Amino acid sequence: MTIPFVNFMLLLLFSNAITPLNFTLCKGEYSKVTCSVKEKQALLKFKKGLTDPINWLSSWSESNQQDCCSWIGIRCNNNTGQVTEISLGNTFQDYSVKDDDYHDHTLGGEISSSLLELEFLTCLNLSLNNFNSIQIPSFLGSLRSLTHLDLRGAGFSGLIPHQLGNLSNLLYVNLGYNSGLQADNLHWMSNLLCLEYLELTDVYVHNYEVLSVLPSTITEIHLSGCGLERIMIPYQGYATTNFTSLRVLDLSKNLLNDELKRALSNFSTSLELLNLGFNSLQGEIPHTILNFKNLKELILDDNEFIGQIPEFLGRLKNLEYLSLSDNSLTGPIPSILGNLSFLRVLDLGGNKLNGTIPKSLGILSNLFLLRLGHNSLEGPVEEAHFSKLSKLDYLDMPFTNLFLNVSSSWVPPFQLTFLSSFKMGPKFPVWLQNQKSLKLLWISNSGIADIAPSWFWNWMLQVRSVDISGNQISGDISDILLNSSFINLSSNCLKGKLPQLTSRVNVLKVSNNLISGRISPFLCERMNRANKLAVLDVSNNLLSGVLGNCWLHWETLTHLNLGANNLSGRIPPSIGNLSGLVSLRLHNNSISGYLPSTLQNCSQLGFLDIGQNKFSQTIPLWIWDMTGLVILRLKSNYFMGKLHKKICELSNLIVLDLSNNNLSGSIPSCLNKIKAMVVVHTQSEESFSALEYGDDYEYYMENLKLAPKGNELEYEKNLKFVRIIDLSSNRLSGLIPSEITTLTGVRFLNLSRNNLLGQIPKDIGEMKLLESLDLSMNYISGEISQSLSSLSFLSHLNLSYNSLSGRIPKSTQLQSFNAYSYIGNAELCGDPLTKICTRHEESDSDSSSRQAEDDSGTSEFYIGMGVGFAVSFWGVCSVLFFNRTWRHAYFQFLENMTNYIYVTVVLKVKWFNGKLRSRPLGTN
Ligand SMILES: *[C@@H]1O[C@H](CO)[C@@H](O)[C@H](O)[C@H]1NC(C)=O
Ligand SMILES: *[C@@H]1O[C@H](CO)[C@@H](O)[C@H](O)[C@H]1NC(C)=O
Ligand SMILES: *[C@@H]1O[C@H](CO)[C@@H](O)[C@H](O)[C@H]1NC(C)=O
Ligand SMILES: *[C@@H]1O[C@H](CO)[C@@H](O)[C@H](O)[C@H]1NC(C)=O
Ligand SMILES: *[C@@H]1O[C@H](CO)[C@@H](O)[C@H](O)[C@H]1NC(C)=O
Ligand SMILES: *[C@@H]1O[C@H](CO)[C@@H](O)[C@H](O)[C@H]1NC(C)=O
Ligand SMILES: *[C@@H]1O[C@H](CO)[C@@H](O)[C@H](O)[C@H]1NC(C)=O
Repeated sequence: MTIPFVNFMLLLLFSNAITPLNFTLCKGEYSKVTCSVKEKQALLKFKKGLTDPINWLSSWSESNQQDCCSWIGIRCNNNTGQVTEISLGNTFQDYSVKDDDYHDHTLGGEISSSLLELEFLTCLNLSLNNFNSIQIPSFLGSLRSLTHLDLRGAGFSGLIPHQLGNLSNLLYVNLGYNSGLQADNLHWMSNLLCLEYLELTDVYVHNYEVLSVLPSTITEIHLSGCGLERIMIPYQGYATTNFTSLRVLDLSKNLLNDELKRALSNFSTSLELLNLGFNSLQGEIPHTILNFKNLKELILDDNEFIGQIPEFLGRLKNLEYLSLSDNSLTGPIPSILGNLSFLRVLDLGGNKLNGTIPKSLGILSNLFLLRLGHNSLEGPVEEAHFSKLSKLDYLDMPFTNLFLNVSSSWVPPFQLTFLSSFKMGPKFPVWLQNQKSLKLLWISNSGIADIAPSWFWNWMLQVRSVDISGNQISGDISDILLNSSFINLSSNCLKGKLPQLTSRVNVLKVSNNLISGRISPFLCERMNRANKLAVLDVSNNLLSGVLGNCWLHWETLTHLNLGANNLSGRIPPSIGNLSGLVSLRLHNNSISGYLPSTLQNCSQLGFLDIGQNKFSQTIPLWIWDMTGLVILRLKSNYFMGKLHKKICELSNLIVLDLSNNNLSGSIPSCLNKIKAMVVVHTQSEESFSALEYGDDYEYYMENLKLAPKGNELEYEKNLKFVRIIDLSSNRLSGLIPSEITTLTGVRFLNLSRNNLLGQIPKDIGEMKLLESLDLSMNYISGEISQSLSSLSFLSHLNLSYNSLSGRIPKSTQLQSFNAYSYIGNAELCGDPLTKICTRHEESDSDSSSRQAEDDSGTSEFYIGMGVGFAVSFWGVCSVLFFNRTWRHAYFQFLENMTNYIYVTVVLKVKWFNGKLRSRPLGTN
């Protein structure tokens, strides 16, 4: 998976963050003096304990004539030749290599106690290696001269040894990003009397006294993700220090739930960065924040703050970074924020802010990121709002009632990298043309109803990710070339032939347009042979012709959706070349013949939808061996033959739709082996998520139109909760197997229009989640099972045209359906049918109806829930891009990045290759 450029962009942002102090790094120098034999031997012994797959330490050798002061990573004292520094922080991390390969680049093994021979060692840096969960050796506590200890992200685990408290000269300690590391207590830290920098990010500390043991020399505290429950900022008489030197306090991603006001009341320092994001802090944003006059970065996002954005924030003149996003703040955006002339980042998204955007924001000439989306803001956004924003790079305004109201000749003062928009139609936004460095354009549902101008497609070549879906953009795309890695043009009015693709395109979605012409030229096009496409969705267009035999050139495809077009001919055998295919959807075309057996090569196939075509013959037996299938739709074809028992091998199925074919024989009684239909358990969610494509940024989700209750609904986000069996309109005979009632996860069951006999299974009430049951037009006889009345989600029932008899059981539930649910059963009587039951029938079902009445109270409640189950499709995809999880992932990523500044350099280079990986950094 690729890490998209969003990160890249925010990296730029963060790399401008507060400049690290000079002390934080080891700064030894090479010397001319030679080292002692004793120290050389000690280092060789140290090397012996290490594993070094890339022979990084090749210069460390006995035979080497040079002395050890010139070995890689070693620094010595200029005058005495004593070894002062071991700097083996790993810089080999290559983010394009596979996870498995990554470890080949790191040092590991053991840390030899021979280091104790190095009496003058001041700096030990083993960061970003992988010591494979060993403990931090306690003898490090005897390296008395140590001033810098950097073990971040080096794969240590276990308890932090208290012996480190003996290192009274320590200025810098970084043990962050060792995910298995814990501290039982931190009292030993009170001996570190000159400590200036402490980082324990992601180390489980859970000891809120931590701040009370730190000396007053402390300048930076990084305790993000440490499980802290309270801020114990020193209260008078409790703490030993008043933190007058503190510049950076990062307590983000903990469990803090204090009122911030109380916590900060006696805390006045020269703080420049305060990060309390991703906690559960409550109350209003307190006035005491003003104590921090030098504050440059104030990050309070993802908490539970309420009230308005305080005006006094306008007095923190040095503020460069203000994030209050994802709280519950209300009211307007104070226009005084326009006074914060150094502001680079203003993130107020995901609150309940209302009113209009103050024009004063338009004078924030340093603003780089502006994020106001997901609020109730309204009104026009005009040129004046951007008048001085020449540095704006990231503009994120979705899910508001704002609309862009600028003249057609507007030339924005900024060059954006990221645009996630607001309403900007109906005219096509001409000003985009002037944006030369945009990498991400997400303007779905923005009300554009216009022809895409000819410059647009050319201009789009440079944009990495494009989503213009859900507008009414028209134009002919026959002759354009697409080059973006993610492209969503769906639900517009585009016409012409399918365009050409470069090898950079990963995802192409053009569904719901007016694209026409034969599909094979597109598939066989020389230009397109180099494609690396993973997702191709051109469903719901006007494509025609045969599928062609060029699948050889599309081997990277994982998701193929050609549904709802006018395709004909057969499925060519070369489809078997798509060995990574997860989803194959050819529904609603005129494809005929049989399924080629080469399809068996597609062993990852989880979604097969060839419904509404002209396939004939029997369903090939090998299909039942494709046990990865989650969704199988063969409906409305001419398949014949008996329903094979092997169908029960498909234990991951959540959608089984074989309706409207010529299948005969009986319904296999082994259906209860389809485990995914038994309960909605997590395992089946896993097999479902295998159907999805991509990461948080380049996302493709399957959707399916189903009509379980008559009217068709599109399921996308909720598809994973669907459990449906539809065998209707075939020639199935025999009994309804009673085993079917053990499929307690099934929501929609349709066996109508067959030749089924016998009774409604008496335990039908066990299928508690049933929302829709259709058994109509069979020869089902006997009385309606009383247990049917306990199906409290049931909102669609059809038992019509069978041979049912007796009284319809009394319950709020069963009488809430109208007579059409029951007609055509000559012997059936009672409400809602007009046929009145005779006394004989009455007394038969008397006792049971009383019990049914008891249930009815809860029934109505559940019906409501059941009906609310379906979602509309449009808009879901955009929600995904912006929801909280997405932001969490993205900030998680950034968080890691900021701590690995050199990595950002790597990233900047790698980003052009688009080969980045989202493995958490520095963990194993
Ligand atoms: C860090 O060092 C640079 C030059 O070596 C100096 O200009 C700067 O003022 C120093 N910063 C601090 C905070 O001491
Ligand atoms: C440790 O080494 C890494 C990689 O070279 C470097 O980025 C980091 O600043 C070093 N740590 C110290 C404290 O010098
Ligand atoms: C140490 O020696 C190197 C190389 O001769 C020289 O560049 C550097 O300035 C010296 N540093 C000190 C602190 O004397
Ligand atoms: C180092 O610290 C440990 C535990 O804190 C203590 O028991 C030990 O005596 C100390 N060693 C030295 C040499 O001070
Ligand atoms: C803040 O300091 C004052 C004066 O020392 C003290 O009276 C008060 O209790 C302190 N507040 C808290 C919350 O500790
Ligand atoms: C706070 O620190 C300053 C500077 O170190 C010192 O002068 C002052 O006495 C300290 N105050 C308290 C209450 O500890
Ligand atoms: C904003 O919301 C508050 C309360 O929810 C309401 O009183 C106020 O009138 C709203 N302001 C605007 C401009 O809509």
